Amino acid sequence: MNATHIDDPLFMLVAAHQQLRTHLHNLVRAGRLFAVGKGDFRLVPQLSQALKFLQTDVALHARDEEDSLHPRLRGKLRDPQSHFAYLLQHIEKDHAELAELQEKAGEAARALIRQVPLESFPACENIKQPLVEFRQLVNQLYRIYTSHMLVEERDIFPAIQVIFTPQERAELAAEMCERRAANGARFTVEPVVRSGISID
Ligand SMILES: [Fe+2]
Ligand SMILES: [Fe+2]
Repeated sequence: MNATHIDDPLFMLVAAHQQLRTHLHNLVRAGRLFAVGKGDFRLVPQLSQALKFLQTDVALHARDEEDSLHPRLRGKLRDPQSHFAYLLQHIEKDHAELAELQEKAGEAARALIRQVPLESFPACENIKQPLVEFRQLVNQLYRIYTSHMLVEERDIFPAIQVIFTPQERAELAAEMCERRAANGARFTVEPVVRSGISID
């Protein structure tokens, strides 16, 4: 991450979303390629990278929101029954549902990877069952995350720039960095490569 952004919580949160979008895109696309008989072992590194991101970075991102951002936003609310308070609650419910789905998608992906063929043709019969489950779960993840991130970026994150002082924003960013340091992780904004493998 660019050193000038390490104290910008909005940038850090949105960068995590951009990376997540790309990984989800790659998972859905890999499922489609396998389904049309054009997927093979060359997709495994991409699947593994996406799974690792979901397991580690996304879990830390959810903690950033639930443990660092939301309590600070709630502290600014005058009405605990407001629409904004409801949105925060809704986002946290999503996180619980998504964590469960991610767990299942990880298991389905590992089952699929164990059956991945070395060559894409002929379409492999033995990946059919794990593939059905994998595709169903990653499509569901994609759908829920798309609306989840839209609500966060449209209705919640803009408040960071409006209601926090520069000092409060710096404290929020520092807490997010400390969370990574404590978990042996770090922020990255290296672009994740979107799968360009054609299904045509
Ligand atoms: Fe979230
Ligand atoms: Fe988020």
